[in-house]
Amino acid sequence: MSLHIEAKRNEIAETVLISGDPLRAKYIATKMLSEVSCYNEVRGMLGYTGWYKGKRVSVQGTGMGIPSTAIYVHELIHEYGVKKIIRIGTCGALQPNLELGDIILAEAAYTDSSTHLLNHTSMDLASSGALDLLQQAKEAALDHSIITHHGIIFSTDTFYAEDMNRWDSWIKRGVLGIEMETSILYSLAAKNNIKALSILTVSDNLITKTTSTSKEREEVSLKMITLALEIA
Ligand code: HPA
Repeated sequence: MSLHIEAKRNEIAETVLISGDPLRAKYIATKMLSEVSCYNEVRGMLGYTGWYKGKRVSVQGTGMGIPSTAIYVHELIHEYGVKKIIRIGTCGALQPNLELGDIILAEAAYTDSSTHLLNHTSMDLASSGALDLLQQAKEAALDHSIITHHGIIFSTDTFYAEDMNRWDSWIKRGVLGIEMETSILYSLAAKNNIKALSILTVSDNLITKTTSTSKEREEVSLKMITLALEIA
Protein backbone atom coordinates (compact mmCIF):
# COMPACT_ATOMS: atom_id res chain seq x y z
CA MET A 1 0.00 0.00 0.00
CA SER A 2 1.30 3.47 -0.84
CA LEU A 3 -0.16 6.88 -0.02
CA HIS A 4 -2.33 7.06 -3.14
CA ILE A 5 -2.57 3.40 -4.24
CA GLU A 6 -4.22 0.78 -2.05
CA ALA A 7 -2.79 -2.28 -3.86
CA LYS A 8 -0.66 -4.86 -2.12
CA ARG A 9 2.89 -4.91 -3.50
CA ASN A 10 2.46 -7.97 -5.74
CA GLU A 11 -0.88 -6.82 -7.17
CA ILE A 12 0.76 -4.49 -9.71
CA ALA A 13 2.67 -5.86 -12.73
CA GLU A 14 6.22 -4.81 -13.63
CA THR A 15 4.82 -3.13 -16.74
CA VAL A 16 2.16 -0.44 -16.30
CA LEU A 17 0.23 1.55 -18.89
CA ILE A 18 -0.65 4.96 -17.46
CA SER A 19 -3.46 7.21 -18.61
CA GLY A 20 -4.49 10.64 -17.36
CA ASP A 21 -8.12 9.56 -17.54
CA PRO A 22 -8.87 6.75 -15.05
CA LEU A 23 -11.91 5.71 -17.10
CA ARG A 24 -9.56 5.02 -20.00
CA ALA A 25 -7.65 2.68 -17.67
CA LYS A 26 -10.94 0.94 -16.91
CA TYR A 27 -11.81 0.72 -20.60
CA ILE A 28 -8.46 -0.87 -21.48
CA ALA A 29 -8.64 -3.31 -18.59
CA THR A 30 -12.16 -4.48 -19.33
CA LYS A 31 -11.92 -4.56 -23.14
CA MET A 32 -8.32 -5.66 -23.76
CA LEU A 33 -7.09 -7.66 -20.76
CA SER A 34 -8.14 -11.04 -19.40
CA GLU A 35 -8.37 -12.21 -15.76
CA VAL A 36 -8.66 -8.59 -14.66
CA SER A 37 -8.72 -7.39 -11.08
CA CYS A 38 -9.14 -3.82 -9.85
CA TYR A 39 -6.41 -2.93 -7.31
CA ASN A 40 -7.10 0.76 -6.76
CA GLU A 41 -10.12 3.00 -6.27
CA VAL A 42 -8.52 5.64 -4.03
CA ARG A 43 -9.57 9.12 -5.26
CA GLY A 44 -11.25 7.39 -8.22
CA MET A 45 -7.79 6.89 -9.75
CA LEU A 46 -8.59 3.40 -11.00
CA GLY A 47 -5.91 0.75 -11.40
CA TYR A 48 -6.22 -2.77 -12.82
CA THR A 49 -4.00 -5.77 -13.44
CA GLY A 50 -4.67 -8.44 -16.06
CA TRP A 51 -3.08 -10.37 -18.92
CA TYR A 52 -2.43 -9.53 -22.59
CA LYS A 53 -1.00 -12.24 -24.87
CA GLY A 54 0.66 -14.04 -21.97
CA LYS A 55 2.07 -10.84 -20.43
CA ARG A 56 1.01 -9.55 -17.01
CA VAL A 57 0.13 -5.87 -17.41
CA SER A 58 -1.35 -3.18 -15.16
CA VAL A 59 -3.22 -0.04 -16.22
CA GLN A 60 -3.27 2.97 -13.90
CA GLY A 61 -5.03 6.35 -14.09
CA THR A 62 -2.83 9.30 -13.06
CA GLY A 63 -4.98 12.41 -13.44
CA MET A 64 -3.93 15.35 -15.59
CA GLY A 65 -0.68 17.30 -15.35
CA ILE A 66 2.87 16.85 -14.15
CA PRO A 67 2.37 16.95 -10.34
CA SER A 68 -0.38 14.33 -10.35
CA THR A 69 1.52 12.12 -12.81
CA ALA A 70 4.67 12.43 -10.68
CA ILE A 71 2.86 11.10 -7.61
CA TYR A 72 1.65 7.94 -9.33
CA VAL A 73 4.88 7.31 -11.26
CA HIS A 74 6.93 7.78 -8.08
CA GLU A 75 4.78 5.36 -6.09
CA LEU A 76 4.66 2.79 -8.91
CA ILE A 77 8.46 2.77 -9.08
CA HIS A 78 9.34 3.05 -5.39
CA GLU A 79 6.51 1.16 -3.69
CA TYR A 80 5.65 -1.41 -6.36
CA GLY A 81 8.93 -2.06 -8.19
CA VAL A 82 7.54 -1.15 -11.61
CA LYS A 83 10.16 -1.42 -14.39
CA LYS A 84 8.37 -0.22 -17.53
CA ILE A 85 5.79 2.55 -17.87
CA ILE A 86 4.00 3.33 -21.12
CA ARG A 87 1.90 6.47 -21.19
CA ILE A 88 -1.10 6.56 -23.48
CA GLY A 89 -2.71 9.95 -23.83
CA THR A 90 -3.81 12.77 -26.07
CA CYS A 91 -1.93 15.82 -27.32
CA GLY A 92 -2.48 19.01 -29.26
CA ALA A 93 -0.58 18.98 -32.56
CA LEU A 94 1.88 21.81 -33.24
CA GLN A 95 2.51 20.98 -36.92
CA PRO A 96 0.00 21.51 -39.74
CA ASN A 97 0.43 18.07 -41.30
CA LEU A 98 -0.78 16.27 -38.17
CA GLU A 99 -4.43 15.26 -38.24
CA LEU A 100 -6.90 14.38 -35.49
CA GLY A 101 -6.42 10.73 -34.55
CA ASP A 102 -2.77 10.58 -35.72
CA ILE A 103 -0.38 8.73 -33.41
CA ILE A 104 2.84 10.29 -32.08
CA LEU A 105 5.67 8.32 -30.45
CA ALA A 106 7.42 10.83 -28.18
CA GLU A 107 11.21 10.55 -28.47
CA ALA A 108 11.74 13.28 -25.86
CA ALA A 109 9.83 16.07 -24.14
CA TYR A 110 10.69 19.70 -23.46
CA THR A 111 8.82 21.36 -20.62
CA ASP A 112 7.94 24.68 -18.98
CA SER A 113 7.31 22.92 -15.66
CA SER A 114 9.03 24.21 -12.57
CA THR A 115 9.66 20.62 -11.48
CA HIS A 116 12.83 20.76 -13.58
CA LEU A 117 14.00 23.96 -11.94
CA LEU A 118 13.22 22.54 -8.51
CA ASN A 119 14.91 19.21 -9.14
CA HIS A 120 17.93 20.39 -11.11
CA THR A 121 18.87 23.69 -9.42
CA SER A 122 17.75 25.86 -12.35
CA MET A 123 19.49 23.72 -14.97
CA ASP A 124 17.57 22.28 -17.89
CA LEU A 125 17.11 18.57 -18.46
CA ALA A 126 16.57 16.74 -21.76
CA SER A 127 13.89 14.17 -20.89
CA SER A 128 14.08 11.26 -23.33
CA GLY A 129 12.11 8.07 -23.76
CA ALA A 130 13.66 4.59 -23.86
CA LEU A 131 15.17 4.06 -27.32
CA ASP A 132 14.56 0.31 -27.35
CA LEU A 133 10.87 0.79 -26.46
CA LEU A 134 10.61 3.41 -29.19
CA GLN A 135 12.11 0.97 -31.70
CA GLN A 136 9.73 -1.79 -30.56
CA ALA A 137 6.78 0.59 -30.95
CA LYS A 138 7.90 1.47 -34.50
CA GLU A 139 8.14 -2.23 -35.37
CA ALA A 140 4.75 -3.02 -33.77
CA ALA A 141 3.26 -0.14 -35.77
CA LEU A 142 4.64 -1.62 -39.01
CA ASP A 143 3.29 -5.08 -38.11
CA HIS A 144 -0.19 -3.65 -37.45
CA SER A 145 -0.14 -1.20 -40.40
CA ILE A 146 -0.44 1.73 -38.00
CA ILE A 147 1.02 5.00 -39.24
CA THR A 148 3.01 6.84 -36.56
CA HIS A 149 4.96 10.08 -36.33
CA HIS A 150 8.00 10.28 -34.10
CA GLY A 151 9.75 13.30 -32.68
CA ILE A 152 9.96 15.68 -29.78
CA ILE A 153 6.94 16.92 -27.87
CA PHE A 154 6.35 19.59 -25.19
CA SER A 155 4.89 18.99 -21.72
CA THR A 156 3.29 22.16 -20.36
CA ASP A 157 1.81 23.21 -17.05
CA THR A 158 -0.65 25.57 -18.77
CA PHE A 159 -3.50 24.13 -20.81
CA TYR A 160 -5.08 27.59 -21.24
CA ALA A 161 -2.04 29.71 -22.13
CA GLU A 162 -2.57 33.50 -21.91
CA ASP A 163 -0.12 34.31 -24.69
CA MET A 164 -1.51 33.01 -27.98
CA ASN A 165 1.99 33.07 -29.54
CA ARG A 166 3.53 31.12 -26.68
CA TRP A 167 4.26 28.07 -28.80
CA ASP A 168 5.67 29.84 -31.91
CA SER A 169 9.34 29.15 -31.25
CA TRP A 170 8.62 25.49 -30.50
CA ILE A 171 6.53 25.16 -33.65
CA LYS A 172 9.45 26.62 -35.66
CA ARG A 173 11.77 24.02 -34.12
CA GLY A 174 9.55 21.19 -35.32
CA VAL A 175 8.08 20.12 -31.97
CA LEU A 176 5.22 17.78 -32.86
CA GLY A 177 2.73 18.21 -30.07
CA ILE A 178 1.85 19.51 -26.66
CA GLU A 179 0.54 17.65 -23.62
CA MET A 180 0.99 17.80 -19.86
CA GLU A 181 2.70 14.67 -18.49
CA THR A 182 5.53 13.11 -20.51
CA SER A 183 8.56 15.14 -19.37
CA ILE A 184 8.13 14.10 -15.72
CA LEU A 185 7.58 10.47 -16.72
CA TYR A 186 10.82 10.46 -18.74
CA SER A 187 12.71 12.33 -16.04
CA LEU A 188 11.65 9.95 -13.25
CA ALA A 189 12.27 6.93 -15.49
CA ALA A 190 15.83 8.11 -16.21
CA LYS A 191 16.50 8.88 -12.55
CA ASN A 192 15.30 5.44 -11.45
CA ASN A 193 16.70 3.46 -14.37
CA ILE A 194 13.40 2.14 -15.66
CA LYS A 195 12.00 2.24 -19.21
CA ALA A 196 9.32 4.67 -20.36
CA LEU A 197 7.59 5.72 -23.56
CA SER A 198 4.67 8.02 -24.35
CA ILE A 199 2.30 7.12 -27.16
CA LEU A 200 -0.09 9.96 -27.94
CA THR A 201 -3.18 10.46 -30.09
CA VAL A 202 -3.73 13.91 -31.62
CA SER A 203 -6.95 15.34 -30.12
CA ASP A 204 -6.60 18.87 -31.51
CA ASN A 205 -4.36 20.88 -33.79
CA LEU A 206 -3.26 24.32 -32.59
CA ILE A 207 -2.21 25.39 -36.12
CA THR A 208 -5.22 24.28 -38.14
CA LYS A 209 -7.56 25.01 -35.18
CA THR A 210 -9.29 21.66 -35.50
CA THR A 211 -10.43 19.95 -32.33
CA SER A 212 -12.15 16.80 -31.16
CA THR A 213 -15.26 17.03 -29.00
CA SER A 214 -14.91 16.09 -25.33
CA LYS A 215 -16.75 12.86 -26.16
CA GLU A 216 -14.24 12.07 -28.93
CA ARG A 217 -11.36 12.84 -26.54
CA GLU A 218 -12.81 10.35 -24.09
CA GLU A 219 -13.06 7.69 -26.76
CA VAL A 220 -10.04 5.53 -26.71
CA SER A 221 -7.81 5.16 -29.71
CA LEU A 222 -7.54 1.45 -30.34
CA LYS A 223 -4.40 2.00 -32.42
CA MET A 224 -2.61 3.66 -29.50
CA ILE A 225 -3.68 0.97 -27.02
CA THR A 226 -2.66 -1.83 -29.39
CA LEU A 227 0.83 -0.37 -29.75
CA ALA A 228 1.18 0.10 -25.98
CA LEU A 229 0.06 -3.46 -25.21
CA GLU A 230 2.24 -4.98 -27.94
CA ILE A 231 5.38 -3.46 -26.37
CA ALA A 232 4.26 -4.03 -22.76
N1 HPA B 1 -2.49 21.59 -24.63
C1 HPA B 1 -2.07 20.87 -23.59
N2 HPA B 1 -2.38 19.60 -23.42
C2 HPA B 1 -3.16 19.01 -24.34
C3 HPA B 1 -3.62 19.71 -25.44
C4 HPA B 1 -3.28 21.05 -25.59
O1 HPA B 1 -3.67 21.73 -26.56
N3 HPA B 1 -4.37 18.86 -26.16
C5 HPA B 1 -4.35 17.67 -25.51
N4 HPA B 1 -3.61 17.75 -24.42
